[in-house]
Amino acid sequence: MMVENRHYRTIWAEDGDVFIIDQRHLPHRFIIESLSGLEDMARAISDMHVRGAGLIGAAAGYGMYLAVREGIEPQKAADILIGTRPTAANLGKAVKRQLEALEGGGNPVKVSFEQANAIADEDADFCRRIGEHGLRIIEDAAEKGPVNILTHCNAGWLAFVDHGSALSPVYAAHDTGIDVHVWVDETRPVNQGARLTCWELSMAGIKHTLITDNTGGHLMQNGMVDLCIVGSDRTNRFGDVANKIGTYLKAVAAWDNKVPFYAALPSTTFDLAKKDIPIEQRDGDEVRYVQGLADGRIMRVLVSSESTPAANYAFDVTPSRLVTGLITERGICEASERGILGLFPNESSD
Ligand code: MRU
Repeated sequence: MMVENRHYRTIWAEDGDVFIIDQRHLPHRFIIESLSGLEDMARAISDMHVRGAGLIGAAAGYGMYLAVREGIEPQKAADILIGTRPTAANLGKAVKRQLEALEGGGNPVKVSFEQANAIADEDADFCRRIGEHGLRIIEDAAEKGPVNILTHCNAGWLAFVDHGSALSPVYAAHDTGIDVHVWVDETRPVNQGARLTCWELSMAGIKHTLITDNTGGHLMQNGMVDLCIVGSDRTNRFGDVANKIGTYLKAVAAWDNKVPFYAALPSTTFDLAKKDIPIEQRDGDEVRYVQGLADGRIMRVLVSSESTPAANYAFDVTPSRLVTGLITERGICEASERGILGLFPNESSD
């Protein structure tokens, strides 16, 4: 995507080194960080310099390459990377791909570098295709006039290598001249909506309005939302989607108000094994504090008492019965086992 007339991906390799956009500083500062080893990459993932399902998958792919370059045993590197964040399926899948590629022999540094690039390229390609398929839904809605879309968290290009999942159809619609406006949930505690989605949309010149996390129900009751599009970090075989905490409540409100509710996701978020979705719990300080700009400096401000107990569930699961459809790189399907396996008959359930 373009940032001030220059095309960026969220992660890339240059002369064998790996670079990321450090998202902790957005929207106030645009900072590129260079990562030189496995430890750097593991920290970048767990402390959310990089975040979002597709991007942490690609980051894990490059993390394996950096580890191999340092001479770290691949399985040890895999265990470290898998331990960074549990919910997004992409991370474990990327690590597994790297282990399988390395088992195939050849120069390990070259093999893991090529595999990391392939994972990143695939993510960008899948997201571009999600945009093409999701565009159809927005085109249909546009027959009645300007389209108001509600989204939660950041499932834009910053959450992937490029294009994004939930925002990819929005970018495609904007490019074709459709009058589109996005309601952006702020998405506490880390405010990915307020900080990242709003920044992305403003970079692209797309109309948007920031709302608190509690506003969506009111907007839907008053006919101000035509459709909701969210992302997914892990999608189970029944079409239930794990996404940023608060997604479920939006789906309930959408169902009650007959607003179509779509999840946009690359197949790399599928976890077709019949097991529970792991829900990450993060440090309570992310709830007790908010980050923002004051006097030209990025600061953290305490909202509650320092000693207030805080629970920080990072994701929730929206049951498939509340999901109108899944927008994938192969097309749109029903959020069900039949729908998913219809489009992805060879998807493994390992
Ligand atoms: O905690 P994050 O920012 O890594 O959360 C992941 C997400 O970006 C969202 O849940 C998103 O909507 C899913 S699609 C990347």
